[in-house]
Amino acid sequence: MTSYKISTIPGDGIGPEVLREGIKVLEAVGEKENINFEWIEHPYGAEHYLATDEILPDSALVEMEKTEAIFLGAVGDPRVKPGVLEKELLLKLRFYLDQYVNLRPIKLYPGVSCPLKDKGPDDVDFYVVRENTEDFYVGLGDATDKARYKSTLELNRSLYEVKFDIDITQAKPDEIAYQIGVVSRKGTRRVAEFAFELAKKKGKTRVTSVDKANVLTNVYGLWRDVVGDVAKAYPGIDVEYNFVDAITMWFVKQPEWYQVVVTPNMFGDIITDLGAMIQGGMGLAPGGNINPDGVSMFEPIHGSAPKYKDKNIADPIATILAGAMMLEELGEQAAADTVENAVIEVLREGKVRTKDLGGTSGTSDVGDAVAEKIGSFTLPS
Ligand code: IPM
Ligand code: MN
Repeated sequence: MTSYKISTIPGDGIGPEVLREGIKVLEAVGEKENINFEWIEHPYGAEHYLATDEILPDSALVEMEKTEAIFLGAVGDPRVKPGVLEKELLLKLRFYLDQYVNLRPIKLYPGVSCPLKDKGPDDVDFYVVRENTEDFYVGLGDATDKARYKSTLELNRSLYEVKFDIDITQAKPDEIAYQIGVVSRKGTRRVAEFAFELAKKKGKTRVTSVDKANVLTNVYGLWRDVVGDVAKAYPGIDVEYNFVDAITMWFVKQPEWYQVVVTPNMFGDIITDLGAMIQGGMGLAPGGNINPDGVSMFEPIHGSAPKYKDKNIADPIATILAGAMMLEELGEQAAADTVENAVIEVLREGKVRTKDLGGTSGTSDVGDAVAEKIGSFTLPS
C-alpha cells in the first residue's frame, strides 16, 4: 500500500464543499488502487484571517513543505480587500514552493455543452502551461514611494506634464502607480521545457507560445527568444508564436488547432478563464501549480463563489479533476485515469449534474456518483 501525506486547505465559500467531494473521490480510488491518503487540514482563508488576523504563517509553509502535495478548495471573501489573500496566501504558496508551472488542461468532455457553435469534444482538448512565478506577478511596483514615484514620472515627463497637466515637481504620490513585469531566461527556460516535455509525453506535435512581443518587446522579446531556443531540442514538435490578443480570437474560432500552449503568467491567467468557458464552464476547469521537483498544489481554477456557500449547488467536478491531476503528478497514473474516466461516465450519462450543467443534483450527489462509478469501474484493457 502506497501512502501519501496531503495538505488540504478547504478555504472559503464553496471551497470546503467542493474539496470534500474531491477528497471523497480520492478516497474511493485509493480503496480500489490500494493508495492511502493522510489528510492534514489547514484552516487558512478569509474566515480564518478575519477571526485571527493571521493569513498564512511561515510555520504552515514549512509544515506543508513536508507533505507530498496540497489540495486546495478556494479562498476569498468580499469582506477582505482584493489583493490580501491573493498575495499573502495563494501567491505566497506558489512562490515559496516554487511552483513554476500552472498547468490547466482545457478539455471538453462528452455530454457537456460548449458555448462555441459546432464545436465538440474532438475540437477542445489541449493544455495551457502557464508560467507561475514571474511576469507582472512578482509584486514590483508602487503607488506611494516618493523617490521611486518621481523617477517614474520622469520616465514619461511629457505625458504627465503636457497631457495631464501634472507638475511633476509638485505631484503627490498616489496619483500614479506602476507595476513592473519581470521575465528571466532561467524562469522561461524551465517552463518552456516543461511544455515541450508535456507535449512529448502526451503525444502532441505542436507547442504554441503566447506573448506580446510586438509591444512589450523587452520582457516578451526575451520570452520568445528562450522558447525558440528550447524548441531546438525538440525536432519532432513544431513551435509557433501567437500574440495574446490573437490567441483569444483563435481559442473561440478554431480551438482544435491547439495542443500545448505555453504562456507568461498574466496572459495565462486571462486566457485560461476563456479556456474554462470553452470547456463548459468554471465548474469543470482544474489546475495544478506544479514544481516537478517539489511540492505541488492542485485546485479548481474557480473562486470561492460566496453566494453559493453551503447551498450544495456548486459543481465539484473541477476539484475532482484537480484531484486526478494530483494523482498523475504523484505518479499514480492508473488512479488518475480511473478518476477521469469516472467523471467522463457521469457526465456522459447526464443523470447526476449540478445546476451549471442544467441539472438539479447537489454538490455531494456528484461526488457520490463519481465515487460510485469508481467502485464499479474497470478500465478497458
Ligand atoms: C487564478 C487566480 C489567481 C491568479 C489569483 C486569485 C491570485 O485568478 O488562479 O487564476 O491570478 O493566478
Ligand atoms: Mn485567474
